Amino acid sequence: MFARSAARALAAPSTRLFSSSAARQTKVAVLGAGGGIGQPLSLLLKLNPLVSNLSLYDIRGAPGVGADVSHIDSASEVNGYQADQLDAALEGVKVVVIPAGVPRKPGMTRDDLFNTNASIVRDLAQAIGRVAPEAHICIISNPVNSTVPIVAATLEKLGVFDPRRVFGVTTLDVVRAARFLGGIAGADPKDCVVPVVGGHSGATIVPLLSQTAQGKGISGEQYKALINRIQFGGDEVVKAKDGAGSATLSMAYAGAKFTDALLRGLNGEKGVVTPTFVKSPLFADQGIDFFSSKVELGVNGVEKIHPIGDITAAEQELLDACLPDLKKNIAKGQSFVA
Ligand code: NAD
Ligand code: LMR
Repeated sequence: MFARSAARALAAPSTRLFSSSAARQTKVAVLGAGGGIGQPLSLLLKLNPLVSNLSLYDIRGAPGVGADVSHIDSASEVNGYQADQLDAALEGVKVVVIPAGVPRKPGMTRDDLFNTNASIVRDLAQAIGRVAPEAHICIISNPVNSTVPIVAATLEKLGVFDPRRVFGVTTLDVVRAARFLGGIAGADPKDCVVPVVGGHSGATIVPLLSQTAQGKGISGEQYKALINRIQFGGDEVVKAKDGAGSATLSMAYAGAKFTDALLRGLNGEKGVVTPTFVKSPLFADQGIDFFSSKVELGVNGVEKIHPIGDITAAEQELLDACLPDLKKNIAKGQSFVA
């Protein structure tokens, strides 16, 4: 009763968060489950009927989170794993979600997190490549523009990289765009789904308002302000939390939403399409190997990478500003592993 109404309430603000039918259930791991994102994300995944088994790992606190979440009256099994139990946590998992790593404090860029988070993510990717080489990996840890290339290059070194199975989670940008546009347009955010392409930081976040009925009429100062708010929404939260971290609850929601989309695709649901940062041919001729655009998710993970479609002159300007920054961020991640 509770699980059903909670899932319905969670699903209400935007498109549905969870699917209602449990076709083939899947073992999912959260690496960084003890953290600000990891805890509520674990809770939301426990409510997802497509999850059969939840493996919660962190260097701190995961057994406690596991015990707590395991009491929720949904069918999935939950286990918490501590620092020396990473391999056990990854045994048999089909989907791994990674929110491990440090968050920003006011005044920092996401790139300032690189020195700490690059090695955390690389080490986790090495373990996944060894223990669960066929897992689908959803990367939340920042800077996403670099951590995704780090995971890909690490798996490549191990000879197990499959570009259909590595995803940077950019869903929070899509969630914010819908919410902020809904506020301006006086519309329900679920009717304001905006494709957000590029990467996940500042100018690399490119919202395509022209591709949404509610967004195409926005112009002038209002357009500039809305784009700025979507691109720098993360800073808004970092500032408000005043040193206590960055977005956790909205990110857990976004992470659960993306994981649900992936699980539905893996279960054979057709037409599951969402933006995500993946190895992409779209700008490869400009030396940009990873890019977020609308991606169709299916039984193998990435089934189809959609082109960005028709864009306005203003959106072309945003894209022109995005590409050089994105290229640098990707190269930084790749050379870290090389
Ligand atoms: P947090 O500090 O609250 O939690 C991070 C957790 O990671 C901690 O529990 C920590 O013990 C754990 N951890 C550290 N090293 C680990 C390792 N080697 N293995 C397993 N766990 C490890 O931080 P948070 O607020 O949850 O944010 C986590 C990351 O997510 C940050 O890098 C943040 O910038 C990023 N983030 C990304 C998005 C996005 O849109 N992709 C949104 C918000 C935050
Ligand atoms: C966000 O967009 O909220 C996250 O990337 C966290 C951050 O550092 O802003």
